[in-house]
Amino acid sequence: MQLSFAAPREVRSGAWVVGALDGSVLTPSAQKADRAAGGAISRGLKVSKFNGKSGQTLEVLAPAGLTVSRIVLVGLGKPSAFDGPAAENLSAAVNGRLNGAGETAVTYEIDLPKGSKLKSGALAAHLALGAKLKSYSFNHYRTKNLDEYEQRLASVTIATDALADAKKSWAALEAIGNGMFLARDLVNEPPNVLSPVEFARRVKANLSKLGVTVQILGEAEMKKHGMGSLLGVGQGSERESQLVVMQWQGGRKKKEAPIAFVGKGVCFDSGGLSLKSGAGMMGMKGDMGGAAAVTGAMLALATRKARVNAVGVIGLVENMPDGKAQRPDDVVKSMSGQTIEVLNTDAEGRLVLADALTYTQRTFQPKFVIDLATLTGAIIMALGPEHAGLFSNDDRLAHRIAEAGKAVGEPVWRMPMGANYDKLIRSKIADMKNIGGPNAGSITAAQFLARFVEDKRPWAHLDIAGVAYQDGEQKALAPTWGTGWGVRILDELVAAHYED
Ligand code: BES
Ligand code: MN
Ligand code: ZN
Repeated sequence: MQLSFAAPREVRSGAWVVGALDGSVLTPSAQKADRAAGGAISRGLKVSKFNGKSGQTLEVLAPAGLTVSRIVLVGLGKPSAFDGPAAENLSAAVNGRLNGAGETAVTYEIDLPKGSKLKSGALAAHLALGAKLKSYSFNHYRTKNLDEYEQRLASVTIATDALADAKKSWAALEAIGNGMFLARDLVNEPPNVLSPVEFARRVKANLSKLGVTVQILGEAEMKKHGMGSLLGVGQGSERESQLVVMQWQGGRKKKEAPIAFVGKGVCFDSGGLSLKSGAGMMGMKGDMGGAAAVTGAMLALATRKARVNAVGVIGLVENMPDGKAQRPDDVVKSMSGQTIEVLNTDAEGRLVLADALTYTQRTFQPKFVIDLATLTGAIIMALGPEHAGLFSNDDRLAHRIAEAGKAVGEPVWRMPMGANYDKLIRSKIADMKNIGGPNAGSITAAQFLARFVEDKRPWAHLDIAGVAYQDGEQKALAPTWGTGWGVRILDELVAAHYED
Protein backbone atom coordinates (compact mmCIF):
# COMPACT_ATOMS: atom_id res chain seq x y z
CA MET A 1 0.00 0.00 0.00
CA GLN A 2 1.31 3.38 -1.06
CA LEU A 3 0.64 6.11 1.55
CA SER A 4 1.11 9.76 0.70
CA PHE A 5 0.25 13.23 1.91
CA ALA A 6 -0.71 15.95 -0.52
CA ALA A 7 -2.09 19.47 -0.54
CA PRO A 8 -5.83 19.44 -1.22
CA ARG A 9 -6.49 19.43 -4.95
CA GLU A 10 -9.15 18.12 -7.24
CA VAL A 11 -9.73 14.41 -6.71
CA ARG A 12 -10.00 12.74 -10.11
CA SER A 13 -10.08 9.02 -9.47
CA GLY A 14 -10.72 6.40 -6.84
CA ALA A 15 -12.77 7.09 -3.73
CA TRP A 16 -13.07 10.56 -2.25
CA VAL A 17 -13.71 10.58 1.49
CA VAL A 18 -15.17 13.66 3.18
CA GLY A 19 -16.68 14.20 6.61
CA ALA A 20 -19.89 15.26 8.31
CA LEU A 21 -20.31 16.20 11.95
CA ASP A 22 -22.90 14.87 14.35
CA GLY A 23 -26.30 15.97 13.05
CA SER A 24 -25.19 15.51 9.43
CA VAL A 25 -23.48 18.91 9.31
CA LEU A 26 -21.35 18.80 6.17
CA THR A 27 -17.75 20.00 6.59
CA PRO A 28 -16.41 22.40 3.91
CA SER A 29 -14.85 19.61 1.84
CA ALA A 30 -18.11 17.66 2.02
CA GLN A 31 -20.00 20.70 0.81
CA LYS A 32 -17.51 21.00 -2.04
CA ALA A 33 -18.03 17.34 -2.94
CA ASP A 34 -21.79 17.77 -2.72
CA ARG A 35 -21.68 20.69 -5.15
CA ALA A 36 -19.35 18.84 -7.51
CA ALA A 37 -21.74 15.90 -7.53
CA GLY A 38 -24.76 18.07 -8.23
CA GLY A 39 -26.21 17.72 -4.75
CA ALA A 40 -26.04 13.92 -4.68
CA ILE A 41 -24.86 13.89 -1.04
CA SER A 42 -27.69 16.13 0.14
CA ARG A 43 -30.19 13.94 -1.69
CA GLY A 44 -28.54 10.83 -0.27
CA LEU A 45 -28.86 12.19 3.25
CA LYS A 46 -32.61 12.44 2.79
CA VAL A 47 -32.95 8.76 1.98
CA SER A 48 -30.52 7.37 4.56
CA LYS A 49 -30.37 7.09 8.33
CA PHE A 50 -26.87 8.58 8.29
CA ASN A 51 -26.66 11.34 10.87
CA GLY A 52 -22.96 12.05 11.18
CA LYS A 53 -22.28 9.82 14.20
CA SER A 54 -18.76 8.50 14.42
CA GLY A 55 -18.29 5.41 12.26
CA GLN A 56 -21.29 5.93 9.96
CA THR A 57 -20.81 6.18 6.21
CA LEU A 58 -22.89 7.25 3.27
CA GLU A 59 -21.68 6.30 -0.19
CA VAL A 60 -22.49 7.91 -3.48
CA LEU A 61 -21.36 5.59 -6.25
CA ALA A 62 -20.18 6.85 -9.65
CA PRO A 63 -21.43 10.40 -9.06
CA ALA A 64 -22.64 12.07 -12.23
CA GLY A 65 -20.30 14.66 -13.69
CA LEU A 66 -17.25 13.41 -11.73
CA THR A 67 -14.51 10.93 -12.59
CA VAL A 68 -14.15 9.60 -9.02
CA SER A 69 -15.52 6.12 -8.42
CA ARG A 70 -17.41 7.16 -5.33
CA ILE A 71 -17.78 9.75 -2.67
CA VAL A 72 -17.80 8.45 0.89
CA LEU A 73 -19.31 10.72 3.50
CA VAL A 74 -18.06 9.61 6.88
CA GLY A 75 -19.40 10.57 10.30
CA LEU A 76 -16.92 12.45 12.49
CA GLY A 77 -19.22 12.50 15.51
CA LYS A 78 -18.81 15.19 18.13
CA PRO A 79 -15.78 17.44 17.57
CA SER A 80 -14.71 17.25 21.23
CA ALA A 81 -14.40 13.45 20.93
CA PHE A 82 -12.58 13.55 17.61
CA ASP A 83 -9.04 12.64 18.67
CA GLY A 84 -6.15 10.53 17.34
CA PRO A 85 -7.76 7.14 18.00
CA ALA A 86 -11.04 8.41 16.44
CA ALA A 87 -9.20 9.44 13.27
CA GLU A 88 -7.42 6.08 13.14
CA ASN A 89 -10.64 4.14 13.58
CA LEU A 90 -12.22 6.24 10.86
CA SER A 91 -9.66 5.53 8.16
CA ALA A 92 -9.34 1.89 9.21
CA ALA A 93 -13.11 1.38 8.95
CA VAL A 94 -13.47 3.21 5.65
CA ASN A 95 -10.47 1.44 4.15
CA GLY A 96 -11.87 -1.90 5.27
CA ARG A 97 -15.11 -1.19 3.44
CA LEU A 98 -13.44 0.18 0.33
CA ASN A 99 -11.09 -2.75 0.14
CA GLY A 100 -14.01 -5.14 0.43
CA ALA A 101 -15.71 -3.27 -2.39
CA GLY A 102 -12.68 -3.76 -4.65
CA GLU A 103 -11.56 -0.13 -4.58
CA THR A 104 -7.89 0.45 -5.40
CA ALA A 105 -7.32 4.11 -4.53
CA VAL A 106 -8.66 6.55 -1.97
CA THR A 107 -8.16 10.19 -1.08
CA TYR A 108 -9.12 11.46 2.37
CA GLU A 109 -10.12 15.08 2.58
CA ILE A 110 -11.18 15.38 6.21
CA ASP A 111 -11.41 18.93 7.60
CA LEU A 112 -10.38 19.29 11.20
CA PRO A 113 -13.61 19.85 13.13
CA LYS A 114 -13.59 23.02 15.26
CA GLY A 115 -13.38 21.96 18.89
CA SER A 116 -11.27 18.86 18.26
CA LYS A 117 -8.12 18.53 20.36
CA LEU A 118 -6.15 17.47 17.30
CA LYS A 119 -4.06 19.69 15.07
CA SER A 120 -4.39 19.53 11.32
CA GLY A 121 -1.06 17.80 10.69
CA ALA A 122 -1.67 15.30 13.47
CA LEU A 123 -5.11 14.51 12.06
CA ALA A 124 -3.55 13.63 8.72
CA ALA A 125 -0.90 11.46 10.37
CA HIS A 126 -3.48 9.58 12.47
CA LEU A 127 -5.59 8.95 9.36
CA ALA A 128 -2.47 7.51 7.77
CA LEU A 129 -1.76 5.30 10.78
CA GLY A 130 -5.30 3.90 10.75
CA ALA A 131 -4.85 3.07 7.08
CA LYS A 132 -1.49 1.45 7.69
CA LEU A 133 -2.56 -0.65 10.67
CA LYS A 134 -5.62 -1.87 8.81
CA SER A 135 -3.54 -2.83 5.75
CA TYR A 136 -1.54 -5.41 7.71
CA SER A 137 -1.82 -9.00 6.57
CA PHE A 138 0.05 -12.20 7.39
CA ASN A 139 0.16 -14.41 4.33
CA HIS A 140 3.61 -16.01 4.47
CA TYR A 141 2.12 -19.47 4.69
CA ARG A 142 -0.53 -19.25 2.02
CA THR A 143 0.33 -20.75 -1.33
CA LYS A 144 -3.07 -20.21 -2.96
CA ASN A 145 -5.58 -17.47 -3.70
CA LEU A 146 -3.29 -14.81 -2.33
CA ASP A 147 -5.22 -12.08 -4.11
CA GLU A 148 -8.21 -12.96 -1.97
CA TYR A 149 -6.29 -12.15 1.19
CA GLU A 150 -4.04 -9.32 0.19
CA GLN A 151 -5.35 -5.80 0.37
CA ARG A 152 -6.42 -4.46 -3.02
CA LEU A 153 -6.54 -0.90 -1.89
CA ALA A 154 -3.13 0.10 -3.20
CA SER A 155 -3.00 3.85 -2.90
CA VAL A 156 -4.04 6.02 0.05
CA THR A 157 -3.67 9.79 -0.17
CA ILE A 158 -4.29 12.10 2.75
CA ALA A 159 -5.10 15.62 1.64
CA THR A 160 -3.93 18.21 4.16
CA ASP A 161 -3.09 21.89 4.20
CA ALA A 162 -0.51 21.24 6.93
CA LEU A 163 1.87 19.14 4.86
CA ALA A 164 5.05 19.78 6.82
CA ASP A 165 3.37 19.11 10.19
CA ALA A 166 1.69 16.03 8.81
CA LYS A 167 4.98 14.56 7.64
CA LYS A 168 6.62 15.31 10.97
CA SER A 169 3.81 13.68 12.96
CA TRP A 170 3.84 10.79 10.57
CA ALA A 171 7.52 10.05 11.14
CA ALA A 172 6.76 9.19 14.78
CA LEU A 173 3.51 7.36 14.08
CA GLU A 174 5.03 5.36 11.24
CA ALA A 175 7.73 4.17 13.63
CA ILE A 176 5.00 2.96 15.98
CA GLY A 177 3.22 1.25 13.10
CA ASN A 178 6.43 -0.53 12.14
CA GLY A 179 6.94 -1.65 15.73
CA MET A 180 3.40 -3.02 15.81
CA PHE A 181 3.90 -4.84 12.53
CA LEU A 182 6.99 -6.54 13.91
CA ALA A 183 5.11 -7.50 17.09
CA ARG A 184 2.19 -8.85 15.03
CA ASP A 185 4.50 -10.83 12.78
CA LEU A 186 6.15 -12.43 15.81
CA VAL A 187 2.82 -13.29 17.46
CA ASN A 188 1.33 -14.68 14.25
CA GLU A 189 4.36 -16.80 13.39
CA PRO A 190 3.79 -20.53 14.05
CA PRO A 191 5.76 -22.10 16.90
CA ASN A 192 7.55 -24.69 14.77
CA VAL A 193 9.20 -21.75 13.03
CA LEU A 194 9.56 -19.25 15.88
CA SER A 195 11.74 -21.04 18.41
CA PRO A 196 13.53 -19.03 21.10
CA VAL A 197 16.71 -19.02 18.97
CA GLU A 198 14.81 -17.86 15.88
CA PHE A 199 13.03 -15.16 17.90
CA ALA A 200 16.39 -13.92 19.17
CA ARG A 201 17.79 -13.93 15.65
CA ARG A 202 14.89 -11.80 14.44
CA VAL A 203 15.36 -9.30 17.23
CA LYS A 204 18.95 -8.88 16.18
CA ALA A 205 18.12 -8.72 12.48
CA ASN A 206 15.48 -6.02 12.98
CA LEU A 207 17.02 -3.88 15.72
CA SER A 208 20.80 -3.89 15.31
CA LYS A 209 20.61 -1.86 12.11
CA LEU A 210 18.70 0.85 13.99
CA GLY A 211 21.45 1.35 16.53
CA VAL A 212 20.03 -0.91 19.24
CA THR A 213 22.66 -3.04 20.97
CA VAL A 214 21.36 -6.60 21.01
CA GLN A 215 22.93 -9.16 23.28
CA ILE A 216 21.83 -12.79 23.38
CA LEU A 217 22.46 -15.04 26.37
CA GLY A 218 22.19 -18.80 25.89
CA GLU A 219 21.59 -21.45 28.52
CA ALA A 220 25.22 -21.72 29.59
CA GLU A 221 25.43 -18.02 30.38
CA MET A 222 22.07 -18.00 32.12
CA LYS A 223 23.26 -20.89 34.25
CA LYS A 224 26.27 -18.84 35.29
CA HIS A 225 23.89 -16.11 36.44
CA GLY A 226 21.95 -18.66 38.46
CA MET A 227 18.72 -18.32 36.50
CA GLY A 228 17.27 -21.62 37.73
CA SER A 229 13.73 -20.33 37.53
CA LEU A 230 13.78 -19.45 33.82
CA LEU A 231 15.93 -22.45 32.90
CA GLY A 232 13.59 -24.85 34.68
CA VAL A 233 10.78 -23.85 32.33
CA GLY A 234 12.82 -24.51 29.19
CA GLN A 235 14.38 -27.77 30.34
CA GLY A 236 11.63 -29.97 28.90
CA SER A 237 12.13 -28.57 25.41
CA GLU A 238 14.52 -29.62 22.65
CA ARG A 239 15.02 -25.95 21.94
CA GLU A 240 17.51 -23.77 23.77
CA SER A 241 16.21 -20.97 25.96
CA GLN A 242 17.46 -17.44 25.31
CA LEU A 243 17.58 -14.14 27.12
CA VAL A 244 17.72 -11.18 24.76
CA VAL A 245 18.87 -7.79 25.98
CA MET A 246 18.16 -4.73 23.83
CA GLN A 247 19.71 -1.38 24.68
CA TRP A 248 18.75 1.94 23.14
CA GLN A 249 20.90 4.84 24.29
CA GLY A 250 19.04 7.82 22.88
CA GLY A 251 19.15 10.02 25.99
CA ARG A 252 21.31 13.15 26.03
CA LYS A 253 23.02 11.86 29.16
CA LYS A 254 24.52 8.55 28.21
CA LYS A 255 25.13 7.60 31.84
CA GLU A 256 21.61 8.30 33.03
CA ALA A 257 19.83 5.23 34.40
CA PRO A 258 17.59 3.70 31.74
CA ILE A 259 13.96 2.77 31.91
CA ALA A 260 13.33 -0.93 31.44
CA PHE A 261 10.77 -3.14 29.76
CA VAL A 262 10.66 -6.89 30.36
CA GLY A 263 8.68 -9.35 28.27
CA LYS A 264 7.41 -12.90 28.69
CA GLY A 265 8.48 -14.85 25.65
CA VAL A 266 7.04 -18.36 25.92
CA CYS A 267 7.26 -19.35 22.27
CA PHE A 268 4.89 -22.20 22.93
CA ASP A 269 3.12 -23.04 26.17
CA SER A 270 1.97 -26.66 26.27
CA GLY A 271 1.65 -26.33 30.03
CA GLY A 272 4.60 -28.69 30.51
CA LEU A 273 3.83 -31.78 32.60
CA SER A 274 0.80 -29.92 33.97
CA LEU A 275 -0.33 -30.30 30.38
CA LYS A 276 -3.02 -28.08 28.96
CA SER A 277 -6.10 -29.56 27.29
CA GLY A 278 -6.20 -29.66 23.51
CA ALA A 279 -8.49 -26.67 23.33
CA GLY A 280 -6.52 -24.78 25.97
CA MET A 281 -3.26 -25.32 24.09
CA MET A 282 -4.51 -23.83 20.86
CA GLY A 283 -3.18 -20.34 20.38
CA MET A 284 -0.33 -20.83 22.83
CA LYS A 285 2.10 -19.79 20.09
CA GLY A 286 0.99 -16.32 21.16
CA ASP A 287 2.35 -16.74 24.67
CA MET A 288 5.32 -14.62 23.64
CA GLY A 289 3.10 -11.55 23.11
CA GLY A 290 4.83 -9.66 25.93
CA ALA A 291 8.25 -10.24 24.38
CA ALA A 292 6.88 -9.22 20.99
CA ALA A 293 5.50 -5.97 22.41
CA VAL A 294 8.80 -5.12 24.09
CA THR A 295 10.67 -5.84 20.85
CA GLY A 296 8.22 -3.75 18.82
CA ALA A 297 8.42 -0.87 21.30
CA MET A 298 12.23 -0.89 21.15
CA LEU A 299 11.99 -0.80 17.36
CA ALA A 300 9.63 2.17 17.52
CA LEU A 301 11.84 4.08 19.97
CA ALA A 302 14.97 3.50 17.93
CA THR A 303 13.27 4.28 14.62
CA ARG A 304 12.04 7.62 15.84
CA LYS A 305 15.30 8.21 17.70
CA ALA A 306 13.55 8.75 21.03
CA ARG A 307 15.67 10.80 23.43
CA VAL A 308 15.66 8.20 26.16
CA ASN A 309 17.86 5.45 27.50
CA ALA A 310 15.77 2.31 27.40
CA VAL A 311 16.46 -1.39 27.80
CA GLY A 312 14.25 -4.25 26.73
CA VAL A 313 14.83 -7.72 28.17
CA ILE A 314 12.89 -10.74 26.97
CA GLY A 315 12.99 -14.26 28.34
CA LEU A 316 12.48 -16.75 25.51
CA VAL A 317 11.60 -20.37 26.29
CA GLU A 318 9.45 -23.20 25.12
CA ASN A 319 7.34 -24.94 27.81
CA MET A 320 7.28 -28.63 26.86
CA PRO A 321 6.75 -31.94 28.67
CA ASP A 322 9.58 -34.35 27.84
CA GLY A 323 11.55 -36.70 30.08
CA LYS A 324 13.78 -33.89 31.28
CA ALA A 325 10.86 -31.57 31.93
CA GLN A 326 10.44 -29.96 35.30
CA ARG A 327 7.94 -31.71 37.59
CA PRO A 328 5.13 -30.29 39.65
CA ASP A 329 6.71 -30.41 43.18
CA ASP A 330 10.19 -29.40 41.98
CA VAL A 331 11.93 -26.62 43.85
CA VAL A 332 14.09 -24.23 41.79
CA LYS A 333 16.45 -21.45 42.82
CA SER A 334 16.02 -18.13 41.07
CA MET A 335 18.76 -15.63 40.23
CA SER A 336 17.50 -13.48 43.10
CA GLY A 337 18.44 -16.28 45.49
CA GLN A 338 14.82 -16.95 46.40
CA THR A 339 13.55 -20.50 46.03
CA ILE A 340 10.30 -21.46 44.34
CA GLU A 341 8.19 -24.56 44.73
CA VAL A 342 6.82 -25.28 41.26
CA LEU A 343 3.42 -26.79 41.94
CA ASN A 344 2.05 -26.26 38.45
CA THR A 345 4.35 -26.24 35.45
CA ASP A 346 1.71 -24.31 33.52
CA ALA A 347 2.28 -21.26 35.72
CA GLU A 348 5.56 -20.81 33.84
CA GLY A 349 5.42 -17.19 32.72
CA ARG A 350 6.09 -15.86 36.19
CA LEU A 351 9.08 -18.21 36.48
CA VAL A 352 10.55 -16.77 33.29
CA LEU A 353 9.84 -13.18 34.32
CA ALA A 354 11.32 -13.65 37.80
CA ASP A 355 14.83 -14.16 36.48
CA ALA A 356 14.41 -11.64 33.66
CA LEU A 357 13.36 -9.04 36.25
CA THR A 358 16.30 -9.78 38.52
CA TYR A 359 18.78 -9.70 35.65
CA THR A 360 17.36 -6.41 34.37
CA GLN A 361 17.46 -4.68 37.73
CA ARG A 362 20.91 -5.90 38.77
CA THR A 363 22.49 -5.17 35.39
CA PHE A 364 20.96 -1.77 34.68
CA GLN A 365 19.60 -0.30 37.92
CA PRO A 366 16.70 1.11 35.88
CA LYS A 367 14.55 4.03 37.07
CA PHE A 368 11.57 1.74 36.83
CA VAL A 369 10.63 -1.53 35.23
CA ILE A 370 7.48 -2.53 33.40
CA ASP A 371 6.84 -6.12 32.45
CA LEU A 372 4.37 -7.31 29.82
CA ALA A 373 3.09 -10.86 29.78
CA THR A 374 0.26 -13.06 28.55
CA LEU A 375 0.30 -14.27 32.13
CA THR A 376 -3.11 -15.56 33.18
CA GLY A 377 -6.35 -16.86 31.77
CA ALA A 378 -7.99 -15.21 34.77
CA ILE A 379 -7.36 -11.72 33.40
CA ILE A 380 -9.35 -12.67 30.30
CA MET A 381 -12.22 -13.74 32.57
CA ALA A 382 -12.01 -10.42 34.41
CA LEU A 383 -11.44 -7.89 31.64
CA GLY A 384 -12.05 -9.65 28.33
CA PRO A 385 -10.36 -8.21 25.25
CA GLU A 386 -11.07 -4.59 26.22
CA HIS A 387 -8.47 -3.79 28.86
CA ALA A 388 -5.11 -5.17 29.87
CA GLY A 389 -4.67 -5.72 33.60
CA LEU A 390 -2.35 -3.25 35.32
CA PHE A 391 -0.61 -4.07 38.58
CA SER A 392 1.84 -1.73 40.24
CA ASN A 393 3.62 -0.81 43.45
CA ASP A 394 3.74 2.86 42.41
CA ASP A 395 0.72 5.14 41.98
CA ARG A 396 2.53 7.68 39.83
CA LEU A 397 3.82 5.12 37.35
CA ALA A 398 0.44 3.37 37.29
CA HIS A 399 -1.33 6.65 36.59
CA ARG A 400 1.05 7.52 33.77
CA ILE A 401 0.62 4.12 32.17
CA ALA A 402 -3.18 4.39 32.40
CA GLU A 403 -3.14 7.86 30.82
CA ALA A 404 -0.83 6.69 28.03
CA GLY A 405 -3.15 3.78 27.33
CA LYS A 406 -6.15 6.05 27.10
CA ALA A 407 -4.37 8.42 24.73
CA VAL A 408 -3.49 5.72 22.20
CA GLY A 409 -6.44 3.36 22.42
CA GLU A 410 -4.73 0.66 24.49
CA PRO A 411 -6.68 0.98 27.73
CA VAL A 412 -5.64 -0.71 30.95
CA TRP A 413 -7.47 -1.36 34.20
CA ARG A 414 -5.67 -1.27 37.50
CA MET A 415 -6.11 -4.29 39.73
CA PRO A 416 -5.49 -4.45 43.47
CA MET A 417 -2.53 -6.00 45.26
CA GLY A 418 -1.75 -6.47 48.94
CA ALA A 419 -0.37 -8.52 51.79
CA ASN A 420 -3.39 -10.82 52.03
CA TYR A 421 -3.01 -11.81 48.39
CA ASP A 422 0.70 -12.30 48.90
CA LYS A 423 0.00 -14.84 51.66
CA LEU A 424 -1.66 -17.07 49.09
CA ILE A 425 1.70 -17.92 47.50
CA ARG A 426 3.43 -19.05 50.69
CA SER A 427 5.01 -22.48 50.25
CA LYS A 428 5.26 -25.30 52.78
CA ILE A 429 8.92 -25.90 51.95
CA ALA A 430 10.34 -23.05 49.86
CA ASP A 431 10.27 -19.23 49.84
CA MET A 432 7.14 -19.24 47.68
CA LYS A 433 5.05 -21.44 45.41
CA ASN A 434 4.24 -20.58 41.83
CA ILE A 435 0.45 -20.77 42.14
CA GLY A 436 -2.08 -19.31 44.54
CA GLY A 437 -5.43 -20.88 45.26
CA PRO A 438 -8.39 -21.03 42.93
CA ASN A 439 -9.23 -17.35 43.42
CA ALA A 440 -7.73 -14.09 42.17
CA GLY A 441 -5.35 -15.86 39.79
CA SER A 442 -4.14 -12.72 38.06
CA ILE A 443 -3.41 -11.02 41.36
CA THR A 444 -1.50 -13.89 42.90
CA ALA A 445 0.57 -14.01 39.69
CA ALA A 446 1.35 -10.32 40.13
CA GLN A 447 2.19 -10.85 43.83
CA PHE A 448 4.68 -13.47 42.71
CA LEU A 449 6.37 -11.00 40.35
CA ALA A 450 6.38 -8.29 43.03
CA ARG A 451 8.63 -10.51 45.14
CA PHE A 452 11.32 -10.02 42.51
CA VAL A 453 11.22 -6.23 42.56
CA GLU A 454 14.30 -4.89 44.32
CA ASP A 455 15.10 -1.68 46.23
CA LYS A 456 11.45 -0.52 46.24
CA ARG A 457 11.87 0.27 42.56
CA PRO A 458 8.75 1.51 40.79
CA TRP A 459 7.38 -1.47 38.92
CA ALA A 460 4.33 -2.22 36.85
CA HIS A 461 3.04 -5.43 35.34
CA LEU A 462 0.70 -5.55 32.36
CA ASP A 463 -1.19 -8.81 31.99
CA ILE A 464 -1.96 -8.78 28.27
CA ALA A 465 -3.41 -12.31 27.89
CA GLY A 466 -6.73 -10.84 26.71
CA VAL A 467 -5.39 -8.24 24.30
CA ALA A 468 -2.24 -9.61 22.63
CA TYR A 469 -4.24 -11.63 20.17
CA GLN A 470 -7.88 -11.91 19.28
CA ASP A 471 -10.15 -14.86 18.67
CA GLY A 472 -13.54 -13.19 18.59
CA GLU A 473 -14.58 -10.03 16.86
CA GLN A 474 -11.73 -8.17 15.21
CA LYS A 475 -10.52 -4.95 16.72
CA ALA A 476 -10.92 -1.93 14.46
CA LEU A 477 -7.20 -1.49 13.82
CA ALA A 478 -6.03 -5.11 13.91
CA PRO A 479 -6.94 -7.27 10.94
CA THR A 480 -5.06 -10.41 12.04
CA TRP A 481 -4.81 -12.58 15.11
CA GLY A 482 -1.78 -10.85 16.61
CA THR A 483 -2.71 -7.28 17.55
CA GLY A 484 0.67 -5.76 18.41
CA TRP A 485 -0.82 -4.55 21.72
CA GLY A 486 1.73 -2.91 24.00
CA VAL A 487 3.97 -1.20 21.47
CA ARG A 488 1.90 1.97 21.49
CA ILE A 489 1.33 2.32 25.20
CA LEU A 490 5.04 1.96 25.93
CA ASP A 491 6.02 4.40 23.21
CA GLU A 492 3.42 6.91 24.42
CA LEU A 493 4.55 6.58 28.02
CA VAL A 494 8.10 7.42 26.92
CA ALA A 495 7.01 10.27 24.66
CA ALA A 496 4.83 11.84 27.36
CA HIS A 497 7.28 11.62 30.30
CA TYR A 498 10.73 10.25 29.74
CA GLU A 499 12.41 12.04 26.85
CA ASP A 500 14.99 14.69 27.71
N1 BES B 1 0.02 -18.58 29.05
C1 BES B 1 -0.90 -18.91 30.08
C2 BES B 1 -1.95 -17.82 30.29
C3 BES B 1 -2.96 -17.71 29.19
C4 BES B 1 -4.09 -18.50 29.21
C5 BES B 1 -2.79 -16.79 28.18
C6 BES B 1 -5.02 -18.39 28.19
C7 BES B 1 -3.72 -16.69 27.18
C8 BES B 1 -4.84 -17.49 27.17
C9 BES B 1 -0.15 -19.10 31.39
O1 BES B 1 1.12 -19.60 31.27
C10 BES B 1 -0.94 -20.09 32.16
O2 BES B 1 -1.03 -21.19 31.74
N2 BES B 1 -1.49 -19.66 33.28
C11 BES B 1 -2.30 -20.50 34.09
C12 BES B 1 -1.89 -20.27 35.52
C13 BES B 1 -2.43 -21.29 36.47
C14 BES B 1 -1.83 -22.64 36.21
C15 BES B 1 -2.11 -20.84 37.87
C16 BES B 1 -3.75 -20.10 33.87
O3 BES B 1 -4.04 -18.93 33.65
O4 BES B 1 -4.59 -21.01 33.86
MN1 MN C 1 1.16 -21.70 31.15
ZN1 ZN D 1 2.09 -19.17 29.53
